[in-house]
Amino acid sequence: MFQMRFVWKNLKGRRGMLVGGLILAAFTSVLVVVNPYLSKILVDDAVEGGQTQLLVPLLLLMCGIVFGRQAARFLMVVLMEKSSQHLLMNIRRVIFTNLQNQEMRFFDKIRTGDIITRVTGDLEYVRHFTAYITYCEIDSLVTFISAVVALGFVNMKLTLSMLTVLPLLIVVSLIYSKKVRPLYREIRYRLSQINVTAQENIEGNRVVRAFAREEYEKQKFSEKSQAYQEASVRASFAWQKVVPIIDCLGQMLTFIALLVGGILIINGEITIGDLTMFTGLTWALSQPMKNFSYLINDLQRFFAATDKIIEIYYAKPMIADRHDAVVANGRLTGEITFSHVNFSFGDQPVLQDVSFTVHPGQTVAIMGPTGCGKTTIVNLMSRFYDVDGGSILLDGVDLRRRTLADIRKSIAVATQDVFLFSDTIDGNIAFADPKMPEQRMRDCARLACADGFISEMPEGYDTIIGERGVGLSGGQKQRIALARAIAAQAPVLVLDDTTSAVDMETESKIRRHLHQLPFDCTKVIIAQRISSVKDADQIIILQHGKIAIGTHDTLARTNTYYREICEIQDVEGLPAFEGGAD
Ligand SMILES: Nc1ncnc2c1ncn2[C@@H]1O[C@H](COP(=O)(O)OP(=O)(O)OP(=O)(O)O)[C@@H](O)[C@H]1O
Ligand SMILES: [Mg+2]
Repeated sequence: MFQMRFVWKNLKGRRGMLVGGLILAAFTSVLVVVNPYLSKILVDDAVEGGQTQLLVPLLLLMCGIVFGRQAARFLMVVLMEKSSQHLLMNIRRVIFTNLQNQEMRFFDKIRTGDIITRVTGDLEYVRHFTAYITYCEIDSLVTFISAVVALGFVNMKLTLSMLTVLPLLIVVSLIYSKKVRPLYREIRYRLSQINVTAQENIEGNRVVRAFAREEYEKQKFSEKSQAYQEASVRASFAWQKVVPIIDCLGQMLTFIALLVGGILIINGEITIGDLTMFTGLTWALSQPMKNFSYLINDLQRFFAATDKIIEIYYAKPMIADRHDAVVANGRLTGEITFSHVNFSFGDQPVLQDVSFTVHPGQTVAIMGPTGCGKTTIVNLMSRFYDVDGGSILLDGVDLRRRTLADIRKSIAVATQDVFLFSDTIDGNIAFADPKMPEQRMRDCARLACADGFISEMPEGYDTIIGERGVGLSGGQKQRIALARAIAAQAPVLVLDDTTSAVDMETESKIRRHLHQLPFDCTKVIIAQRISSVKDADQIIILQHGKIAIGTHDTLARTNTYYREICEIQDVEGLPAFEGGAD
C-alpha cells in the first residue's frame, strides 16, 4: 500500500525508534497472556493441588509482570511519539519547500484553505496512524495470536469452537470498510470547504464588512458547517450500525467458552483451572476482534488523509530548471525579447503573436485596458507561467533554458497586488537581502518617496506592519513595495501599476528618482497615467492580445487608444492626430 510506503519513506532517521516501539508493543502484548496462564497454575497446582508454597512466588511474579508491562508501555509511547513527530516534521518540510517551488498555475487550482487542511488535519491523521494505529494493530494481532496459542496448548477443541466467530467478524468488517471509505473522503472534503470559507472570510474581512455581506457569509459558512456535520453523522451512523453486531460477536465468545467449556469439564476433558484461563483470556480474543473493526475505521481515515497529502507532497512543478540550463556568469544586462509569444488561460487567449525587444538600460512602458494582459506579460517575463508558443529571451537566452534562480534574481517586480510581510518596515524593504546595509535600505526608501512617512511613524523603520500591511494606506504600501523592488538592485525593474494609489506630486518625484537609480537596469513600467509613460523609450499598447509599439509622439499621432487616453488626461502639446491603428 503506497500510503504505508509513504509513511515509511518519511520516517527516515527514526525508523529504528518506530520499530523499537512496535517490538515493545508486541512484547507487552505477549505478556498479557502470561498472567492468566499463571492464574491457571495458581488454581490447579497451588489451590487445588495443595502446593501452597507456590502461592506467594506466583503472586509476586504476576505483580512483577504487571509493573514490567506498564514500564515497557511507557517506553513504547515515548518511542512512538518521537518517531511520529519526526515524521510530521519531515513531511511538512518537503511540502513547504514544494509549495515554495510551485508555479502560479498550481495556486490557481488549489485554494489556501485546502492546503491548510492538508498540512494540519490530514497530517494529524498520518501522525495518529503512526503513533497509534500501527501500535494497536500489532497489539491486537499479537494479543490475539498469543491467546490462541496459549489456549490451543490447553485445549484445542475449546479454542477452535471460540474461533468460529472470527470469519463472521471478518465478513462484517470488510463490508463496513467498503461502505465507509467514500464517507471519509466526503468528510475530508467538507472540512476543507469549511477551512477555505473561513480563510477567505478572515482575509477578506474588510470587504465583507464594506459590502455589509456578513449575513450572507455567515449563511455560507453555516451551510458548509452543516454539510460537514451531515457527512460526519453519516459516517458515524454507518459505524454505529456495525458496533452492535461486533459487540454481539464479542459476547458470543463468553457464551461459547462457558457452554463448550462446561461440557468439556463434565466430560473430564479440562480442569476448572483450564476454564478459568479460558474465561480470563476471552477478552484477549474478543478485544482484538473488536479493535480490528475500529482499526478499519481509522485506516479509512488515514488513507483519505494521506491521499490528499501525497497529492501536494509529490506535485512536481512544470516550471523547473532543465538539467542543461545555462547558469549566468555574473550579472545579466537586462535585455528582454518577446518573440512571437502566444499565451492563453484555458480557452481565453491573452497574448497573440507578441514580439518586442527592450535593450539594456531602456525604459519600456506597457499600457492597455484593464484585463488586457499587462500583468500577464510580467508574469511570463519572470517565468511564473510558460508561454504556449514563441519564446521569451533574457539576455539572448530562452527563459526555459535559464535557471529560475537567475531569472528571479534578475527581475525585481513591484507587484500590482501589494503583499507585505508581518515584519518591520526595514525587514520588508530589505527582503531580497536581509544583510543589506542600513544606508542602502534607507536610500531605496528615499527613492521610492517612502522615507517621509516612515520617519513619522513611532518606531520609524522598526515599525512592525500587520498582515498584508494593515495600518498603512494603499499609497504607503505601494511605496514600501517599490522600495523593496529597487533594493533588490536587479538588472530588470518592473513596476506594475505601482504608483496608482500615489498622489500626482509624489508620483512625479518617484519618476525623477527612477532616473537616478544607483545601478543600471532595464525598466518596465505598467501605468495608466500618461505622465508615467510618456518619457519611456518605447511604449507598448496592448489590446485584444496584440500590441502596437511606439514613442509618446508616434503613438499620440497614430494610435487611437493612446490618443484617447491622452485627451482624457488633458495632456498638453499633442501632435496632430493622423489616424491609423487602434
Ligand atoms: N490566474 C488566472 N487564471 C485565469 N485567467 C486569468 C488569470 N490571471 C489573469 N487572467 C485573465 O487574463 C487576462 C489578463 O489578465 P492580466 O492580469 O494580465 O490583466 P491586466 O492587463 O494586468 O489588467 P489590470 O489592468 O486590471 O491589471 C484577464 O482577462 C484575466 O481575467
Ligand atoms: Mg495587472
